[in-house]
Amino acid sequence: MKERLTEGHLLYGGDYNPEQWLDRPNILQKDIDYMKEAHINVVSLGIFAWSVLEPAEGDYQLEWLAEIIEELYKNGIYTILATPSGARPKWLADRYPEVLRVDETGHRNFFGFRHNHCYTSPIYRKKVAQINRQLSNRLGEHPGVIMWHISNEYGGECYCPLCQHEFRKWLEKKYKNIEVLNDKWCTTFWSHRYQSFAQIEAPSRRGEPLLHALNLDWRRFVTDRTIDFAKMEIQAVHKNGNDKPVTTNFMYDFKGMNYAKWKDVLDVISWDNYPTWHKGSERETALDCALEYDRMRSIKGESFLLMESCPSATSWQSVSKLKRPGMLHAASMQAIAHGSDSIQYFQIRQSRGAVEKFHGAVIDHYGGNDTRVFREVTALGIDLDALREIQGSRIHAEAAVIYDMENRWAMEDSDGPRNENMYYRETVRKVYEGLRAMGINVDVVDMEADLASYRIVAAPMNYMYRDGYEKKVREFVASGGTYLTTYWSGVVDECDRCFIDGTPYHLMDVLGIRSKEIDGLYEGEVNGICPVPENSAGLQKTYQVSHLCERIDVTTASTLMTYQHDFYGEEPAVTCNAYKKGKAYYVGADAEGSFYRDLLQHIVCEGGICNAAKESLPEGIEMTLRETEDNRYLFIQNFNRTKTKVDLSHYPGELLMGQREDTIPALGTIIIKTTV
Ligand code: GLA
Ligand code: ZN
Repeated sequence: MKERLTEGHLLYGGDYNPEQWLDRPNILQKDIDYMKEAHINVVSLGIFAWSVLEPAEGDYQLEWLAEIIEELYKNGIYTILATPSGARPKWLADRYPEVLRVDETGHRNFFGFRHNHCYTSPIYRKKVAQINRQLSNRLGEHPGVIMWHISNEYGGECYCPLCQHEFRKWLEKKYKNIEVLNDKWCTTFWSHRYQSFAQIEAPSRRGEPLLHALNLDWRRFVTDRTIDFAKMEIQAVHKNGNDKPVTTNFMYDFKGMNYAKWKDVLDVISWDNYPTWHKGSERETALDCALEYDRMRSIKGESFLLMESCPSATSWQSVSKLKRPGMLHAASMQAIAHGSDSIQYFQIRQSRGAVEKFHGAVIDHYGGNDTRVFREVTALGIDLDALREIQGSRIHAEAAVIYDMENRWAMEDSDGPRNENMYYRETVRKVYEGLRAMGINVDVVDMEADLASYRIVAAPMNYMYRDGYEKKVREFVASGGTYLTTYWSGVVDECDRCFIDGTPYHLMDVLGIRSKEIDGLYEGEVNGICPVPENSAGLQKTYQVSHLCERIDVTTASTLMTYQHDFYGEEPAVTCNAYKKGKAYYVGADAEGSFYRDLLQHIVCEGGICNAAKESLPEGIEMTLRETEDNRYLFIQNFNRTKTKVDLSHYPGELLMGQREDTIPALGTIIIKTTV
């Protein structure tokens, strides 16, 4: 499938909306010339084009699109064909008001915006299926069409009676008996017991916003509802026997859905990345992007597509900062380093009006190819062409960080121990950075992942244990794995119901500790953790801790660090326990990043993980390895503002990008190829 997708190319291109320029044929011709000049080989077409594809109900106008697909194809440019369901035409909303969303207070929205439609509405589904089938029948078999782009950035929720009804059905299927639900949701608290599924309403600030288990199940339902809608769309484009691969574009750290559940729905994962480069240090931004790339890659454990990024500045962030020279190249190569088989932009040509008229584009309103952005886009296109052999290569990781959306929903919804900010993502990022500092590949997975193939698994702030999770961890450690977890772990079950008889639930013997109390610290308040002399992890420094400090009882674990101050000063703060063939570390407090770098350097070296850097990498240096059966491609990137020393003599091989010098220039990328 992958071969058919790209024929051994990295995809390069982006969203293209020629429907906005149909009255200007000279512009369309110029666009194709410029695309060729920039080495662009793919565009996403049809996103938000419904009102031009079907200007009146049943009046399908697809010929203009057919001509453009053909013209692009003749010029070596493929099409990722979108279904237009991301925004509906006005006639549809007017004729069938039920397609518009209802908000949590029960009010139906007016027409407008994108994804302002109900994913349950039978009429909306029917109309989407009809236009999808039209597209598939007329255009799906065109050799230029390599893939389906199903809708665009699905998101949001609808509280209409149809959706409420589906929610009740979903709950009934899950719990079967209302008393099981009452028990698991703890509805006796505040006398909120239900007598039947028919009584249940979605969470609402006008009704029940505080029943955490209801909130959680509603979010799970919203994910399932959206997937159900997407499956309907996929069936429609595949109905006539067309079997081209499907994707939909995900968003950065989107909290409205559990993307991990899409694993088997999509053939290829794709996503849109709009980091705020140059806001603070580039290396912090790069680290955050790396985490997100690895999370997207880990959904299917395969290379993915960067479906959208901005060639210059967006128009929707609070400040539209231009990418400094070199940033586009470095940011794009980072995507490739982490497993992307494409670099695509929003957008090829800037729209003239409406909300995104000032959003960066390959071709701006001026319309020339003699712009800074166009030159950088072209230079990158040339580089990607030269790197085509990398397409489809894999990333193999022996370490994983658990970052789980359901865990996040539960933890952030829960009242206490810090309602200001739990710093979940930030903590995951510190742990991830600690592992990455030794240059190893890291998967970012959720609690449903199979842990058996890893040697190190880190599960920071693992508040909720989803069904069967603790058993998996026990087996992982028993058979020789190294597990690292932290404060506020194993506290509740899948329904956010607190475990009784001690936490971390069912892993107290594996960890050799029990957590007793957790102290929330005010913003700005700090404590410290001090090394126990001669501790087995070789920790020697004192580190700052903040936000949350847990008091623990040690049973079989050995203490590596103790608290510095407060009434729990000198009590254990970091421990390590040998359990069967493996080891389990427990970190009791929100420690600064350098602590995780030092501890994880020890753990990675002890684990002898391959592709690790020969020494801890300087901050801001990223190292990632992609491989095929025959070749290995080592990427080393510098996200510092100054050149940085890296001893490349440790890494022999053929240079595909960059120079073999003592230092890597600011925003520079080195790619070293070796043959296995
Ligand atoms: C998203 C959307 C695009 C566009 C861009 C702007 O990623 O998918 O249609 O709105 O944002 O950054
Ligand atoms: Zn609805």
